[in-house]
Amino acid sequence: MDIEFVRSRFVKHFDGQTGNIYFSPGRINLIGEHTDYNGGYVFPGAVDCGVMAEVRPNGTDKVMAYAIDLKDRVEFAIDDKEGPKATWARFIYGMVQEFRLLGVDVKGFNIAFAGDVPLGAGMSSSAAMESCFGCALNDLFADNKISKWDIVLAGQATEHKYIGCNCGIMDQFASVFGEEGKLMRLDCNSREFEYFPFKPEGYRLVLLNSCVKHELAGSPYNDRRNSCENVAKAVQAKHPERKIQTLRDCTWEDLEEVKGDVTAEDIQRATFVLGEKDRVLGVCDALVAGDYEKVGELMYATHDGLSKDYEVSCEELDYLNDIARECGVTGSRIMGGGFGGCTINLVKNELYDDFIATAKQRFSAKYGHEPKVYDVVIGQGSRKVC
Ligand code: GLA
Repeated sequence: MDIEFVRSRFVKHFDGQTGNIYFSPGRINLIGEHTDYNGGYVFPGAVDCGVMAEVRPNGTDKVMAYAIDLKDRVEFAIDDKEGPKATWARFIYGMVQEFRLLGVDVKGFNIAFAGDVPLGAGMSSSAAMESCFGCALNDLFADNKISKWDIVLAGQATEHKYIGCNCGIMDQFASVFGEEGKLMRLDCNSREFEYFPFKPEGYRLVLLNSCVKHELAGSPYNDRRNSCENVAKAVQAKHPERKIQTLRDCTWEDLEEVKGDVTAEDIQRATFVLGEKDRVLGVCDALVAGDYEKVGELMYATHDGLSKDYEVSCEELDYLNDIARECGVTGSRIMGGGFGGCTINLVKNELYDDFIATAKQRFSAKYGHEPKVYDVVIGQGSRKVC
């Protein structure tokens, strides 16, 4: 992101004065999909693209916000009950409200922001916004006393309360805690995490964007979550002596046992989640052993589960996955929430050019446009730029 670009718009659209600049990245996820809200493990990393905002307190009780990419301007009072209608502005409004709930006395400010995380690509442009605004509010109004975890949780609460997506914590976590060159294994139950330097000798990570716009707010994502919760509740009902909070606490035997108590669809969803829990741990072992072929195998297994059991794929993503297999790509799968967006591919250096050329050619012959290609660079998390 270009600082001068954001600054020039901020100065132009407000009173000519400059403010502070903050940046937060989007994320990739190597493996562990739809496990975060099930208390499982995820394996994300921040990327080098994200959202940049310039912010300056304006001495009023109003937020004056300008979305540079959309050329849209919105104004709202800090204590407004409803909040703005424009979705992008609700991310700012939500973070302001969550910071106030944390006891921060947020005052009026001017803000202009822009992003270079592709929208709808499953790379968490929303979390990048939340954590960027959170980083700014923390610096300007809370003396940086709000912890990183509280910023993560404020971002998640913004999604739940103001956007309508009952997401987990992976995206906000990755955006806030990311470190250059490192992936992170997060246990979403205990919130313990570990950094894993990621430099696969001889391989590259590349995303192929199907350009099918993925949209998580609304029912399909929340429906998946509900199914998982139904199964966890059914297991709890059968075993009052155990403390079942999420599918994390359930076993394959438990699934078998509650088959008659929930729908077949719920069981199918839970089957994916239990398998995914094991696959993340498998990937960790394989990474430690430097066994990238095993990592790749598990990525393909995740794709199959997301496509057939969790049903969050689409024709275009399955097609990209087929092409990857046929080109001998080591691992490939849908990344993020699904319903469109990208595949993440672990590919040997010597196969890279052929894979990209073949994917572009075959995909465009079928769908009339090429997939977009993003080479993954694991970047630094949220920060004040200047
Ligand atoms: C979205 C959500 C995350 C997570 C992923 C799927 O990105 O925001 O919380 O559930 O989908 O792994």
